[in-house]
Amino acid sequence: MFWCAFVVFFLALGNELHLSHATEVSVNNTENKLCLYANLMVNFSVTYEVGVNKSETVLFVLPENVTTEGSICNNTTSTLKLGFGDGHSWAVEFTKDNKTYQVDSIVFTYNLKDSSVFTNSTSNETKSVTAKPRITNVGVDTYYSCKSENVQRVESVTQTLYDVTLQAFVTNGSKSDTDTVCTADLTSTTVAPTTTVTTTAAPTSTPTPTLPTPTTGNYSIAPDFNSTACLMATFGLRIGFKQGDKVETINLVPSATEVGGACGVNSSILILTSDTINIMFTFSNDSKKFHLHALNVTVKPATGVAVVAANTNMSIWVAAVGSSYMCNKEQTLTVTETLTLYTFKLRVQPFGVEKGEFATAVECFMDSDLSFLVPIAVGVALCFLIILVLISYLIGRRKSRTGYQSV
Ligand SMILES: *[C@@H]1O[C@H](CO)[C@@H](O)[C@H](O)[C@H]1NC(C)=O
Ligand SMILES: *[C@@H]1O[C@H](CO)[C@@H](O)[C@H](O)[C@H]1NC(C)=O
Ligand SMILES: *[C@@H]1O[C@H](CO)[C@@H](O)[C@H](O)[C@H]1NC(C)=O
Ligand SMILES: *[C@@H]1O[C@H](CO)[C@@H](O)[C@H](O)[C@H]1NC(C)=O
Ligand SMILES: *[C@@H]1O[C@H](CO)[C@@H](O)[C@H](O)[C@H]1NC(C)=O
Ligand SMILES: *[C@@H]1O[C@H](CO)[C@@H](O)[C@H](O)[C@H]1NC(C)=O
Ligand SMILES: *[C@@H]1O[C@H](CO)[C@@H](O)[C@H](O)[C@H]1NC(C)=O
Ligand SMILES: *[C@@H]1O[C@H](CO)[C@@H](O)[C@H](O)[C@H]1NC(C)=O
Repeated sequence: MFWCAFVVFFLALGNELHLSHATEVSVNNTENKLCLYANLMVNFSVTYEVGVNKSETVLFVLPENVTTEGSICNNTTSTLKLGFGDGHSWAVEFTKDNKTYQVDSIVFTYNLKDSSVFTNSTSNETKSVTAKPRITNVGVDTYYSCKSENVQRVESVTQTLYDVTLQAFVTNGSKSDTDTVCTADLTSTTVAPTTTVTTTAAPTSTPTPTLPTPTTGNYSIAPDFNSTACLMATFGLRIGFKQGDKVETINLVPSATEVGGACGVNSSILILTSDTINIMFTFSNDSKKFHLHALNVTVKPATGVAVVAANTNMSIWVAAVGSSYMCNKEQTLTVTETLTLYTFKLRVQPFGVEKGEFATAVECFMDSDLSFLVPIAVGVALCFLIILVLISYLIGRRKSRTGYQSV
């Protein structure tokens, strides 16, 4: 009885969620064949002026009913333009190369004169903002799929895209069956509201997804456009971070990462920024040797709270200035209690790079052939300890015995 009611409730809820405001559109080309397809949800938050130094923020969603006038399908560029309400539009620009396509920009145009949305607006202008979401490397003849939220903040507009299915450059006039899933979906366990809640209360064990080894990225900093690199680094990076009691992991995706930083005499900086990860490495040159001195990491998971961790007193990745530091084996760096880094196939040279090449490397201990000695050394030390304890026990017994006798 009870669960029956629940099923009905969830079914209703599921339907409600699905029908509430997903926007589904198809665009045909000049031959009247499908060339663009989208099924997505977008929430907008717009701040606008309602008086001198006074502003208001309005929230609204991309409605179900939109027009596709102004959408264009060409060979290597396409535009999906959705018009809605009183003069508002949302346009996605796509470009394609041989194997992949991407979103170059999203232009959101809103008409402040529309008083049904922008109540008491003092302006009657039509404004546009251009967002550059990271929707790249979508395989041709696949559709882009992203359930996770993708938040774009530009000036006074925040757009939240979610439950996105998007295909441009559709071939043969029918939507593809294969998808290119966004990284946010791969690294987070989004639990969709399911209707199969009826099975007898089996404990819902959420298996932690085993991530593949992170891709090795090549990062370099040059002092200016015409110079070769002054800092070089290659590594794969995984971050483990706490969300409440759970530990989650996320990989840095090099192709979706921006590189920044600077080379100095006494310290050099490497900054890597992706949608979800922001990490700053500070290296120090103490005249003969360099080391990693500080780390500042921010992880913004698609769901859950952001985790910030900094440690400004590290002394690892040590090598002579003019050489590089290398560690092929997986290395674990505990930044704080809530955040840990794992590096793979690491090589860094933060100072004195010449001709854009790494200098000779100092390898970490784990890579060396001597690392097999560690368990042996531990064993020997343990034996030693046991013998020591035994001896002191025997001596102790003898002493106490003589003690008794002398009384
Ligand atoms: C989008 O807006 C709707 C209605 O305001 C709200 O119910 C929903 O939770 C919002 N979704 C996100 C992902 O912000
Ligand atoms: C509006 O804000 C500006 C700068 O913050 C200030 O100089 C100006 O006096 C303010 N005007 C009013 C009417 O409050
Ligand atoms: C827009 O507003 C300005 C004053 O704020 C006014 O002079 C102008 O006529 C208005 N334009 C339109 C098209 O309503
Ligand atoms: C880079 O080199 C080009 C031509 O070799 C020159 O015109 C330009 O000014 C240089 N730029 C910088 C920042 O040095
Ligand atoms: C490292 O520091 C020393 C002294 O602090 C300086 O002489 C040397 O040039 C620095 N090395 C590099 C590569 O900047
Ligand atoms: C680098 O450190 C040395 C010694 O600590 C100092 O003399 C020098 O001024 C520093 N150079 C820069 C550019 O900060
Ligand atoms: C780490 O970075 C954050 C954001 O960029 C900043 O607010 C914080 O002060 C930094 N922490 C340290 C110790 O540098
Ligand atoms: C940094 O570490 C060194 C040695 O590990 C320690 O002596 C020093 O007090 C630490 N400094 C800070 C600011 O934590």
